Amino acid sequence: MKKDICILAIETSCDETAAAVVRNGREICSNIIFSQIDLHKLYGGVVPEIASRKHIEKINQVIEEALKQAGTALDELDAIAVTYGPGLVGALLVGVAEAKAIAYAKDLPLIGVHHIEGHISANYIEHPELEPPFLCLVVSGGHTHLVYVRDYGKYDILGRTRDDAAGEAYDKVARAIGLGYPGGPKIDRIAKEGNPEAISFPRAHIEDSPYDFSFSGVKSAVLNYINGCQMKGESFLPADIAASFQKAVVDVLVEHSMWAVEEYKTCKFAIAGGVASNSALRESMKKACEERQTTFYYPSPVFCTDNAAMIGAAAYYEYLAGTRHGWDLNAVPNLKLGER
Ligand code: KG4
Ligand code: ZN
Repeated sequence: MKKDICILAIETSCDETAAAVVRNGREICSNIIFSQIDLHKLYGGVVPEIASRKHIEKINQVIEEALKQAGTALDELDAIAVTYGPGLVGALLVGVAEAKAIAYAKDLPLIGVHHIEGHISANYIEHPELEPPFLCLVVSGGHTHLVYVRDYGKYDILGRTRDDAAGEAYDKVARAIGLGYPGGPKIDRIAKEGNPEAISFPRAHIEDSPYDFSFSGVKSAVLNYINGCQMKGESFLPADIAASFQKAVVDVLVEHSMWAVEEYKTCKFAIAGGVASNSALRESMKKACEERQTTFYYPSPVFCTDNAAMIGAAAYYEYLAGTRHGWDLNAVPNLKLGER
């Protein structure tokens, strides 16, 4: 019988201190997330220095809880996995140093994981039948990537954002209409009461790069619209702005993704990252996939935003492929997908 592979995974790339115990890549024995959102809310966004300090304060507690909930002792683990990029360098370093310390003390293999590979792998957790090849749209606060997953750990990036990430645009627009940080879930909520056709915001297409994205134009258009209303002494309806902005973003995400589905003739399409929990995006993608007889995969919201379970899922396939990092593993804030 094949031996179970049990991995302790750590994620500290941004403002979530997270640890999880994952068995055979797809079985989540525990998934502990300490969110720092309440701390950063006061400043309207993530403050890197505060994030690193909080990670240091919380990391041991979060790992202890993950092991306890899983009923797993350190001696029962097969490897330690950690996000080593991309992300905030000081925040990443906390997880990397912690993972190295445990791996060294317990003489366990160390596996560094790319954060986006983690987001993509979140889809494996609840869909045991999902196997590469498939297409995946990764939409988060820091990234917007359209990726062809050729095999486990093998990625072709078809398109990416030229400027703001989708989540970043959501957060900036939310701030402009007075909703606070993080804006994505708040826009999602109030957009349900607004008219998506009320205001026509631009949809950017990049000549010669059909799969690339650009969200700075739609963001500026929203800011200009609000300024214009204020200068004329007119009031504006935040729900209409939210719904119209969201429609502009979702239309582009769906359109570019479906071009790829058609070109790559794939019957499997997945979404991942914080914005993948957006209700309008999920609904539109589902419909577009159905129209093309393509199976649509999406993680539960808890596996869309940053978590360590997804890092454990990715690490399992890296483990099988023989990926092992040395004690010189460092945080790489701008790590490219597919790099080692
Ligand atoms: O994946 P994630 O936790 O962190 C990064 O790797 O960046 O994504 C966080 C982003 C934030 O920009 C947040 O506003 C956005 O995901 N987000 C959403 C929703 N939930 C989170 N955006 C739109 N609709 C949502 N429901
Ligand atoms: Zn993320």
